Amino acid sequence: MIGVRKVRIHTFGCQMNVYDSEHMLCNLAPLGFQSTLSDEDADLIILNTCSVREKAAAKVFSLLGRLKRHKRSRPGVLLAVAGCVAQQEQEELARRVPYVDIVLGPDQVPSIAELVEQAERTGGQVVATRFLSDPDGLFSQGAALVGNRVSAFVTVMKGCNQFCSYCIVPYTRGRESSKPADAVESEVRALVDSGVREIFLLGQNVNRYGMDREGWPRFSDLLRRVSAIEGVARLRFTTSHPADCTDDLVCCFAELPNLAPYFHLPLQSGSDSVLARMNRRYDLNHYRGRIERLRAICPGIHLSTDLIVGFPGETDEEFEATLRAARDLEFGSAFSFKYSPRPGTKAALLADDVPDAVKAERLEKLQAVLYSGMARAMGAHVGRIEPVLVEGSSVRSTSPGQATGRTGTNYVVNFDVPGSVEEWRGRMVPVRITAALPHSLAGEPLT
Ligand code: SAH
Ligand code: SF4
Ligand code: F3S
Repeated sequence: MIGVRKVRIHTFGCQMNVYDSEHMLCNLAPLGFQSTLSDEDADLIILNTCSVREKAAAKVFSLLGRLKRHKRSRPGVLLAVAGCVAQQEQEELARRVPYVDIVLGPDQVPSIAELVEQAERTGGQVVATRFLSDPDGLFSQGAALVGNRVSAFVTVMKGCNQFCSYCIVPYTRGRESSKPADAVESEVRALVDSGVREIFLLGQNVNRYGMDREGWPRFSDLLRRVSAIEGVARLRFTTSHPADCTDDLVCCFAELPNLAPYFHLPLQSGSDSVLARMNRRYDLNHYRGRIERLRAICPGIHLSTDLIVGFPGETDEEFEATLRAARDLEFGSAFSFKYSPRPGTKAALLADDVPDAVKAERLEKLQAVLYSGMARAMGAHVGRIEPVLVEGSSVRSTSPGQATGRTGTNYVVNFDVPGSVEEWRGRMVPVRITAALPHSLAGEPLT
C-alpha cells in the first residue's frame, strides 16, 4: 500500500493555472499525495508559475530563493516548477536553480505523476516542456473533483495564436487547441453531479473556441450546449478577444437564461495607433460598437476590461485616448497594468522608452477614472433585487452568520443569513442590495 504523502501547490497567475493546479492535485492522488497548505509538511512542493509581467516572474524566483534553505534542511522534499515560467525557461531554469527537481510546462500537467516517479527513481533533474497539440491526448484528464465547490473552472481551449506584440502567452502556452465539445460536456456533467453550481469556461481566447478545427462548433454553440446541462445554475466565461466578438456570441446573453450578465473584454489601449503597434486587430471604433451592441442586447451587463499604460512610444496624446475611452465606456471594473517588456516578444525589441515614473503617473490617473466608474456601477445596484449564488462564509465577516456570494454581474455581496451559512451554500438567493462598499456590496436576503 502507498503511504500518505503531502503536496503543497503554490498557484500564481490566471484561472487556467488554478485549473491546472486542481488537475495536478487529482493526477497525484494515485501516488498517495494529499494536499497541504504548508511547505513544512510537504513531501512535494509545486510552484505553478506566471510570467505575464516581470513582477509575476520575480515573485517565483523570490519564493524559489526562500525554498532553497528549506530544501537544504529537508533534502528528501521534491521541488517542481510548473506553468509559464517553466515553459519559458525550460533547461535554463534547471541550470539556474540546481535544487529544482522537476521543470514541467503547462501541457505536461497530465503527466505530473510520471514525472514525479521519474525524479524519485533517477534522483536527477527532470525537464518536460513539450507542447501537445492533439486535443484528445491533451484534454484526456476529465473533471478535477477536488473539494466541495460551488464554482469550478473548465478549460475549453488552450494556447494563443494572436501574438499581441507585448505578450508572452503564445510562447508559454503554445498554439490554440480546442477541447472536443463532448469532453467539455462530460466534464461539466461530472462537476455538476459533484455539487458544482457555477461553471466558468476558460481559454486564453475563449471566443476563438473551435476555430482551430474544421467543422467544429463555434463558441456560441458550445455555450448553448453547456447552458442546457441540467444543474448549471450559472455560466460564465473568460477571456474573449474583441476582434472575435461576433454577433452570435453577443446574442447568447439574451438567449441563455443561466449565462451571467458579465463580460470581460480586454481593450488594452484607447489609442488606435497603440492598438496597431500592439497588433490587436481592432480599433476603438470596433470595440465601442461591440460594447454598444452588448449593452443593447443585455441592459445592465457588467463589462470589464484590461488596460496597459506605457507601451513603447506611448505619447501623452495616446495615453489621453486611453483615459478618454475609460471615461466614455464606463467599465464596471478593470485591471490596469504598467507595460512590462517580456523576453522574446516583438515589443521587447522596441525601446521601453516611457520612464517608470511616467508609467506610474499614468496608471494612477487611469485607475482613478476606472475606480469611479466601478463605484458608479456598484452604486447602481443599491435598491435592486439581485440573484446571488452563495459561495460560503464571508472571510472578513465578524458575525458567524454572514454569507458571501456573487451577483450575476460578478460583484461580491455579503449578507446575514439565519442559521448556519453551510445550509445556504450553493443556493441562488434573491438579495436586496442595501449598500455599495469600496470592494463589495451589502444586502439582505429575501427568502
Ligand atoms: N488572453 C487574454 C489575457 C492575457 S494576459 C487577452 O487576450 O486579453 C492578461 C492581461 O495582462 C492582458 O489582457 C494584458 O492587459 C496584460 N498583459 C499582458 N502582457 C503584458 C505585458 N507585457 N505588460 C503589461 N501587461 C501585460
Ligand atoms: Fe496575449 Fe494577445 Fe494572446 Fe491575449 S490574445 S493571450 S493578450 S497574445
Ligand atoms: Fe500568467 Fe501564463 Fe496565465 S503567463 S496569466 S499563468 S497563461
